[in-house]
Formats: sequence, C-alpha cells, structure tokens
Amino acid sequence: MCGIVGYVGDGDATRVLLSGLNQLEYRGYDSAGIAVSDGGGEICGDGGVDANGGVSSDGAGIDVRKRAGELENLEAAIESGAPTGSVGIGHTRWSTHGPPTDRNAHPHTGETGAVAVVHNGIIENYRALKEALVDAGRTFESDTDTEVVPHLIEQALADGADPETAFRRAVSQLEGSYAIVAVFEGVDALFAARNDSPLVLGVGDDGYHVASDVPAFLEFTERVVYLEDGETVVVRGDGATVRDGDGDVVEKAVTTVDWDVEDTGKSGYDHYMLKEIHEQPTALRQCLSGRVNELDGTVELPEVDGVPAPSTVHLVACGTSYHAALVGAARFREAGTPAQAFLASEYAVRTPPVGDALVIGVTQSGETADTLAALRAARSRGARTLAVTNVVGSSAARECDDAVYIRAGPEIGVAATKTFTSQVVSLSLLVERLAGSATGSEASRERLAALRDLPGLVQQVLDESAAAAVAEAYVGRDGYFFIGRGPNHPVALEGALKFKEITYEHAEGFAAGELKHGTLALVTERTPVIAVVTGDDAAARKTVSNVKEVEARGAPVIAVTDGRAGVAEYADHTLALPDAHPSVLPLLANTQLQLVAYHVANRLGRSIDKPRNLAKSVTVE
Ligand code: M6R
Repeated sequence: MCGIVGYVGDGDATRVLLSGLNQLEYRGYDSAGIAVSDGGGEICGDGGVDANGGVSSDGAGIDVRKRAGELENLEAAIESGAPTGSVGIGHTRWSTHGPPTDRNAHPHTGETGAVAVVHNGIIENYRALKEALVDAGRTFESDTDTEVVPHLIEQALADGADPETAFRRAVSQLEGSYAIVAVFEGVDALFAARNDSPLVLGVGDDGYHVASDVPAFLEFTERVVYLEDGETVVVRGDGATVRDGDGDVVEKAVTTVDWDVEDTGKSGYDHYMLKEIHEQPTALRQCLSGRVNELDGTVELPEVDGVPAPSTVHLVACGTSYHAALVGAARFREAGTPAQAFLASEYAVRTPPVGDALVIGVTQSGETADTLAALRAARSRGARTLAVTNVVGSSAARECDDAVYIRAGPEIGVAATKTFTSQVVSLSLLVERLAGSATGSEASRERLAALRDLPGLVQQVLDESAAAAVAEAYVGRDGYFFIGRGPNHPVALEGALKFKEITYEHAEGFAAGELKHGTLALVTERTPVIAVVTGDDAAARKTVSNVKEVEARGAPVIAVTDGRAGVAEYADHTLALPDAHPSVLPLLANTQLQLVAYHVANRLGRSIDKPRNLAKSVTVE
C-alpha cells in the first residue's frame, strides 16, 4: 500500500520522481525517499546519516535521500542540492515493519551502496532470509523486511552475477507480496518485479517509467503496460524487456489510459470512498499475509508473542471501530473467553473494574481522543493494553503495551470502509491466536480457510452487486431501518452509520428482534427496511419472521442474504451474497451495505469523501 515510482530516460530523474511522489502522496504516507544514479561512476556510498539527520549516500554512484514525515520534508532536504542523474527510484511509505523514521524509509541499500531498492507489500520470509544474511556477516540498518532485498542482490553480484541475474536470483528467494524496483550503480536501467502488488510501466517520449499507480507518471505519458504476477522487467530509457517466472520473454500490449488528471489520486474512481471499497480484497490479502498457517490451523502474530491468553477481554472503540469491536467481542466469547465491547467515550468516564482483563483499543487512526482516554483509564487501573490500529507509530500504538496492525493502507474517505473489514479480520486472527480454545482445532482450520477465501469473495460481491439499482429504487424515502440478528447485528449498525454519515438521511440500525419493541411505530411504506439474513439457523429463521412483520406494515424490504433462509420470498429487492463460511458472510453483507450507502449518497450529490460536520480523525473528547 506504499507508493513506488521509477524513471530512466533523457530527463532529470529527480524532477520526474518528485512529481510522481507528489501524485501519490495525497494519501498521507509517513516517509519518502529517492535514489538517483547518473548511470555511471564508481561504487561508493554507505548509507550513512547526513548532517541533517536524514539518510543519504553521496558520491558519483547512487545518491539516496530519504526523510520521515511528509514529502515536503524530503523536498526541503534536497533544496540546496538535488541528486542529479537520469535513472532513479522513489517511494512513499506506509509503515508495516518498523516505525516511520529516516532509517526505515525507502530506498534501502545493502553494504556497498551498489544497489538501491524500493518495495511495496510484505516479504513473509524476511526473518529467515535476514538471519542467513546476518550469519554470512552482513549488517542491517533498518527494521524493515525490504532491506533483505539489496543484501541478497549484493550477495549475488559478489558471486559474479550480472545485475539482471542478481536481481532475478534475489526475487526468486522471496515469499509474500511485493512490487520491487531496483537501481544499480553504473547501469542505465531499472529492474522490477511484481507478485500480488500492483506495478505498471509508463512508455514516455523521453524515457520509461515504472510505478505502483498510473497517476504517478500521468504527467509524462498515458501509454501504459500492465505487469502480471511473477513477471520481472528490465526497463531502459528506450524500451523494456518483460520475462515470466521461467525467464522467457513476454510480449506486452501498450494500453492508452484516458484519465482526468483531476481525478488521478482516485485512480479513475469518482470518490476515494468508492476506491477504498474496491481496495478491500487487496487490503485483506495484505492483512492476512504471512499470518495464517492453514495446515496446522494456527495464526502467527509475533506482535503478541508476549501476551498471555487473557481471562477476560474489554474492547474499547468508537463509531465504525466500535462495530468491529462488537464482532471481535462476540468472537472471543465464541472461543470461550469472556469479552465485552464498550463505547470508548463511556468507558473513559465510567471505567468498569478491569481486574486482569486485556483491554484492546480498536482504532483505525490510533488518534481518537475517546479511545485513547479509555485506554489510559484502563492502564491507570493496571490493565495490559493492546492497540489494533492501521497507523504504525500512532498514539495508540505507542501508548499501549502491544500493537497489532491491520495493514489496510491509508484511508482518505472520512467514512471508514476497508479499515472496518481489516479490523474485523485482524480481531479474528487475534482471537485464534490468543483465545486458548480457538487454536489448532478443525473448526479453527475451517475459519482460517474462510479468511483465505474472503478477498476473492469480496471481489465477487463487488463485481456482481445490484446495490446501484437498489439505491436508485429507494433514494429519497422518509427513513431507513437496518436489521440483523447475532453476527449480523453489528453489520446492521454499521450499515446504518455508513448510510446516515454520507447520505445525510435518517437511518437506524437494530437487532432484528428489537424493532417490534417500539420503533415499529415508525415503519411505513415510505421507510425501507434493509434486512441482513445469512445462513438458515434459528437466528436466521427468527429474522425472517421480523421481516414478515415489517412487510405486513407495507414497508419495502431489501434482503441482504445468501438465500438459505428463504427471506427473498418476502423481499422487494435482494442483494445476493455468495455461498461462504458463516464467519465471513457478515463481512460480505457489509460490502453490499457500503455500496448501497455510496450509491444513494452519490445520487443525492452529497460530499461523499468529506461529509459535513465530520472529520477523519476525532481528536477531542
Ligand atoms: O480512527 P478511529 O477508528 O478510532 O475512528 C473512530 C470513529 O471516529 C470512526 O470509525 C467513524 O465512526 C467513521 N468515520 C465512520 O465511518
């Protein structure tokens, strides 16, 4: 989820790279760097710290500059002397391994400075590779998984390999997801590879570009070559050679994209929210990467290796994160560990006895004041605290005893979408890892297999959803009720929150059985009821009865269902869910509700990415 750029050609590489990084930085990355070579010169540079505290390697070879913080920090640092050269790489980082510091920023070099590397994704076997490299006498500068790559390349170069062979040999040792670009001292070319992480080439008039996202080079060219998983490419100023995993040359088509420069940050989507809804399969893959061992039904979360199995769990959170916490609490209880989700703002002022509870703060930003206050209240009572957050180095991550990162990548839309999904999956992994009775069983293996399949199923929902038509049919009604029972109750709450947040229409979420205890008085033919019904157990059958109750009052019913409980018979519209394990169906239903909210809001012309009165991060109590 980081941003990558690369350039080789007749132009000024630094200018091209900074332009690309500016296009990518809209998402609020946490550090940035470039490495530029003039394509010739001697091996030099050792990745030392420069006078300004950032990391640089100067000399006639590869000039590496990088800074923690926003891109402007990097720009300010090179104002008095920018690297010169015609080949280079750049990166904006969204931390997954190690905090956002100068040293952890990309590009990374090895020991000789002969090669510099940028990387997106997660190298799952980096620990084993690093151990072997350290045993071979190599020293590492950063906390990142990426740094193994330049070391592996240097090792191959030392064995006599040419740059392309060295690059391919290094890449062949990597497991996980990656888009990697390398620049070599004295070589007028870039070397790139992709596996499960996007990478595209740009064919310009005065050079070739490589990037994680097309907008990075749209200022220079609209001609694009899309790379596939397993491919590597040598990019020169006047051409590129793509090879498949066997080393055979692959002919690639050049596509011309027709994108409005205004919308480049949204990669062609009308809103960040819609883009982020569609990023969920990728975000989920990244969340799960290297964490699940399906064979023995266990979860690897080294972040909590020091955390004992809790006797009780409290989850504290706000808004959408609270809905994820409700799911997490239910999962802990199902695994035999007493657990309860609390609204953080209530927990902070009326903290219940914590005893020896593990208190988990669920917060996308890691900066929500209510959640931080609840965590502080728990800590002041002696509780062990754990942050489940998207932002490495955030206040929650720093203040808690431990932190698990959801790895969703930056989320710009105020309405939380992909972070909710990744929070739920992260909490599910945490339950498998921490709740003793959950680990290693047949049921656990089945749940982990379901998580493995989840990204593909979310993609299927995105591809086949009828949400736009449903939105068109029900826009402009008096109010909207969302109902769900058991695991679908948090989904109903989240569906209603998303709906009111961006449509500005009145919506309420309910436990399905609760509507008849009062709110049924508001149900009319002008108040659609959106019912989430999955499976065919007793809970599903009872929800079908609740659907009949509202149908009898003339309310239009939209069923979000896998079809097994037969609710479609009583519904005016159905949003279909694919056949899936019961543990992931609520997340698939949630994807449908995100799309309904989006399309109604879009139809009403609302300010979808920045809804009125709301902020992405709420830093006041
Ligand atoms: O950053 P956090 O997850 O702690 O934020 C909590 C809420 O403010 C947040 O989930 C809010 O409810 C969302 N904007 C809803 O879409």
